[in-house]
Amino acid sequence: MAERTRMHLAQFMIHGPTWHSHAMWRHPKTTAHGDDWFRPELYEHVARTCERGLFDMVFFADLNYISDTFTGSLDPALRYAVQAPEHDPIPLLSFMAATTKRVGLASTFSTSHHHPFYVARLFATLDHLTRGRVGWNVVTSLNHNQAANYGEVREDNDLRYDRAHEFIEVCQQLWSSWDDDAVVADRAAPQFVDSDKVRRIDYEGRFFSSRGPLNVTRSPMGGPAILQAGTSPKGRAFAARYADAIFAIQPRPVDARELRDDIRSRADDAGRNPDHVKLLFGAQPIIGESEDHAIELQHEHNELVPLEAGLAILSAHLDFDLAVLDPDEPMADRTEPELQRMRTRYLNPDGSSMTVAEVAQKHGQSVGLPQIVGTAISVADQLEAFVDEAGGDGFMLSPVHCPGSIEDFVDQVIPELQRRGRVRIEYAGTTIRDHLRQEW
Ligand SMILES: Cc1cc2nc3c(=O)[nH]c(=O)nc-3n(C[C@H](O)[C@H](O)[C@H](O)COP(=O)(O)O)c2cc1C
Repeated sequence: MAERTRMHLAQFMIHGPTWHSHAMWRHPKTTAHGDDWFRPELYEHVARTCERGLFDMVFFADLNYISDTFTGSLDPALRYAVQAPEHDPIPLLSFMAATTKRVGLASTFSTSHHHPFYVARLFATLDHLTRGRVGWNVVTSLNHNQAANYGEVREDNDLRYDRAHEFIEVCQQLWSSWDDDAVVADRAAPQFVDSDKVRRIDYEGRFFSSRGPLNVTRSPMGGPAILQAGTSPKGRAFAARYADAIFAIQPRPVDARELRDDIRSRADDAGRNPDHVKLLFGAQPIIGESEDHAIELQHEHNELVPLEAGLAILSAHLDFDLAVLDPDEPMADRTEPELQRMRTRYLNPDGSSMTVAEVAQKHGQSVGLPQIVGTAISVADQLEAFVDEAGGDGFMLSPVHCPGSIEDFVDQVIPELQRRGRVRIEYAGTTIRDHLRQEW
């Protein structure tokens, strides 16, 4: 008998017109095109909707570049809104915090370009402003355009992760440089802070040094919840050591299970409770009134994705110009090192390889997230089957249009999953980490 697994849910977003779906800004139901997508009200609405659905969190990806990787020109990225433009998501977290009370609020921030003191201060402040609801998706940036925007040259994967380890170590020491009870605020004495409870860190590393202490008081969670996305051996080791949750894209449950088992065993080896590292697998729901209607909606959406947009976004994410390949050759046969990281996304359910064009088309539709298509009941069935086969722990959901898709999921699929005991019926705690560790 299959395991009956709880589902933790997060909602994927980008502060821009295109999220995972490169049809989104063109979709007739989307209002977030033209200049509409940079109104903060849109994102507040998404956060409130996800709170109504009792999601663990909303989550922003973040890239700091417009890609010229495909063909060497900026034109495809700009023409097809290939995750561009992309505004900074961090300021939006404060807007969203002001209009919600419980849902977690997470954003990506790269370790590749800034000093850890700045990032430790930023996320400690956000932890205060959100009252313990902030999450930091710790990424290392691999696209040469992003490195060039910061006047740098792209570093290789292992080196970027070595730097990320040190980066987070500095942040953790800074977050711990204040004791919980350091602020005494005794007006009569007068004494605002007990200096015995605030320490320098005097960190001297290979990449960074920092004297400390942080000039932010200890925050509700003692720093943000840590999220991670990246599946190389170094990426997995990093996640197992630090992450509260991992965003993973594994279209086949068999690969999802392999990744989850490996992360849990690495977490155990690192002396952590494996249940404290949650795997959230990307999924793109398309909900119809009937099965046929859902398939129609899927076609309507997918036909709005130009193949060139798919080639451009896949080239950007691999930092490899796919224009040099034959679109009809099997993608999984390629041996270039840059093309190996996403190998599991090149495979059909039966394990055979898609062609380059097929992989690119899928990447344009959903960045490789499996599309979960059907009535609300059937979407719930499919999510159940996936999570049971993977062993856990939930999903990073991504919409095909906005507004509309997220509301459909919350109004139609959540009640069904609640009936089945798969998702929470109320928040038990107040922080994002409480949500990720909640059992029901
Ligand atoms: C699902 C997923 C989401 C990612 N999101 C971002 C992002 O928003 N911004 C970013 O700069 N890098 C992002 N990355 C890139 C990773 O941080 C990392 O550089 C890349 O995956 C290479 O590491 P790996 O070989 O361990 O996967 C993402 C990676 C994955 C797998």
